[in-house]
Amino acid sequence: MLKGKTIVLGVTGGIAAFKAAALCSKLKQAGASVHVIMTQGATKFVTPLTFQSLSRNLVFTDTFDEQDPSEISHINLADRADLFIIAPATANILAKIAHGIADDMLSTTLLATMAPVMIAPAMNVHMYEHPATQNNMQILRERGVRFIEPGVGQLACGYVGKGRLSEPDEIMLEIQSFFQESQLLKGKKVLVTAGGTVERIDPVRYISNDSSGKMGYALAGEARRLGAEVTLVATQTRLPIPDGVDFVKVNSAQDMMDEVLSRFDTTDVVFKAAAVSDYRPIEQLDHKMKKSEEEWVIRLVKNPDILQTLGQRKTTQFVVGFAAETNNLEAYAQDKLKRKNCDLLVANDVSQEGAGFGVDTNIAQVFDAEGLVEVLPLQSKQDMARRLLQIVTGRLASHAGSVYVQGNDFSEEN
Ligand code: PMT
Repeated sequence: MLKGKTIVLGVTGGIAAFKAAALCSKLKQAGASVHVIMTQGATKFVTPLTFQSLSRNLVFTDTFDEQDPSEISHINLADRADLFIIAPATANILAKIAHGIADDMLSTTLLATMAPVMIAPAMNVHMYEHPATQNNMQILRERGVRFIEPGVGQLACGYVGKGRLSEPDEIMLEIQSFFQESQLLKGKKVLVTAGGTVERIDPVRYISNDSSGKMGYALAGEARRLGAEVTLVATQTRLPIPDGVDFVKVNSAQDMMDEVLSRFDTTDVVFKAAAVSDYRPIEQLDHKMKKSEEEWVIRLVKNPDILQTLGQRKTTQFVVGFAAETNNLEAYAQDKLKRKNCDLLVANDVSQEGAGFGVDTNIAQVFDAEGLVEVLPLQSKQDMARRLLQIVTGRLASHAGSVYVQGNDFSEEN
């Protein structure tokens, strides 16, 4: 599986650096081309010669120590990597990469790389649990960095707690499953919608909602990581576009509908995570409305329901709808699933703390036509995206498509 893969192994200054030597050896034996970058701290624990002998490649410790005049080492390594793994990762390197600091060979190469990054932290339990470290890890998770959690046990500093570097065999398993997963959706086209639609009243005012796009962006990034060709149709957000994802910016529900429908026939999977305005102003003024009357009545007209339209048109596509509910979650979710003819419906109770709009986490229940599939407790949107894609990929092989049954009669629309 690792044959032909280029793996950059970053080693930072902790006692667990000795375990990185075993990891380097296992990666090499598995057929990977391994390139090691050590921080100055790491060289105090293990010598570069150890890694050079095991990897059979030059080891990098200094950005300015260029061995080959025909290339710039940190850019070359950043570009060539199929995977970047840091083991062990100290609190210091986590802080640097979370905040874009590039002051040595490892942090500079990490800033330059577009490759997926996997991090195996190792440190004292209090350093690990410190809010600064936890915040830095959260920032990195949101950027799609994958963590290999440290183990609990006796630490070199004398404390007992969480902070031991994962064993090299466990890290190898994570790396192997990473490369396996990156083939899961190869050849599939995934379309994700994200963010709240913007319904213009006049050039300076609009109706929208609190959707940040985080849930949809996490799904797009994860689908891309699994090898899919991903299109993200999203409204105005401040989020970085996940690497390798085709981005289409839209404003209104009608714009979103046009962009989604024009791609739907060639799409395999759709995630409708966007919060689409149900209504838009009947009239859109082309000049700023001046303040004059005591009251301003804006008449609204219903927007097209994009998800319902997809549900009616779908043939082989696998369609995942979302529902933002505040009460009667199960009943409303099942109602939407049937009315909009989705294959899965992810219902988040947005009245719960840590769920729904704007936050980095979510809480949801997943339904299919048979009923509840899975309860997803409080977790990061990144982890939820990962789990949702596992559920979808598990079902794709046996998915033969379904047809829309006309005449469903439900009292409360949404
Ligand atoms: O963006 P975040 O801040 O990360 O927040 C995530 C989220 C809460 C927005 C997301 O998890 C979510 O629940 N998205 C759907 C929100 C919503 O609009 O729910 P709804 O119950 O109003 O709509 C149900 C489904 O129909 C949704 O898939 C929606 O995209 C779709 N819909 C609704 C109306 C409409 N006119 N067209 C649609 O396609």
